Amino acid sequence: MARALARGWGRPLLCADPIAERARSLAEEVAGEALASNAEVAERAELLVLCHKPAQLQAVAREVAPHARAVASILAATPLAALRDAYPGKPVYRFIPSLPVEVRQGAIVQAAAADTDAAGDAQDAALDAAVAELFAELGTLVVLDDALLDVAMGLMSCAPAYVALVAEAQVDAGVRRGIPAAQGAELVVQTLAGTAELLRRRGNDTVAVRREVASPGGLTARGLDALERGGVRSAFSDALDAVLGAER
Ligand SMILES: NC(=O)c1ccc[n+]([C@@H]2O[C@H](COP(=O)([O-])OP(=O)(O)OC[C@H]3O[C@@H](n4cnc5c(N)ncnc54)[C@H](OP(=O)(O)O)[C@@H]3O)[C@@H](O)[C@H]2O)c1
Repeated sequence: MARALARGWGRPLLCADPIAERARSLAEEVAGEALASNAEVAERAELLVLCHKPAQLQAVAREVAPHARAVASILAATPLAALRDAYPGKPVYRFIPSLPVEVRQGAIVQAAAADTDAAGDAQDAALDAAVAELFAELGTLVVLDDALLDVAMGLMSCAPAYVALVAEAQVDAGVRRGIPAAQGAELVVQTLAGTAELLRRRGNDTVAVRREVASPGGLTARGLDALERGGVRSAFSDALDAVLGAER
């Protein structure tokens, strides 16, 4: 995820990774600088972006909290309160990105600061705006209550894998009826991209797009009925439950 963010920002940055070569290759790619430790990154960076696993929160904070000026976390299942505990007195921000940030087409969700912000003293309006702007460069930024961030993650961070699976299923259906896989994939992937744009222009009105394509008694209506009977809605609902259940 760190690599996807860095590619999306496309400008020099400082990075560190337990495997030095991994940090070096990322720094090379974005004309940035790989440093020997997280602490050095924290000392030099204006904003420290945490991209390690959630279970490493305390260990990394012990190393970098004394040096960090401001912290943005992308860790799943790690609420703002836990970040504030780990980085006392520092401005902290919580985002959940999705892989398409790499091509600046990501969905990014930000945790809203609470009204009664215990860490209010540490936050600064200009910094808040600059950090939000930085993440908004990567796609569409949506602000939600902190408690909903993991639910949002189950929708948008997992979705590139879901969409890839759905595309693959469609291509395979075409292959079964004689369409070569490569051409089938061109058709399906372009249709996904075009439909996303169309939905956006229709104000994300999914029903409107469905009605436009499905004439009464027509072929698409029959296809949609087969998908509904196949359990497409409950499958996505179960997937979200599985993701949220797995975190607890
Ligand atoms: N993948 C997504 O789509 C997605 C979306 C939203 C949020 N997230 C969140 O983003 C974070 C990273 O996810 P990921 O999928 O990119 O996982 P990942 O591929 O395992 O990346 C985590 C990276 O952090 C490194 N790391 C381990 N210990 C570290 C330390 N002490 N200091 C600095 N770096 C350390 C890991 O190195 P090793 O591999 O050597 O341990 C690895 O390179 C997670 O907290 C996840 O919840 C992921």
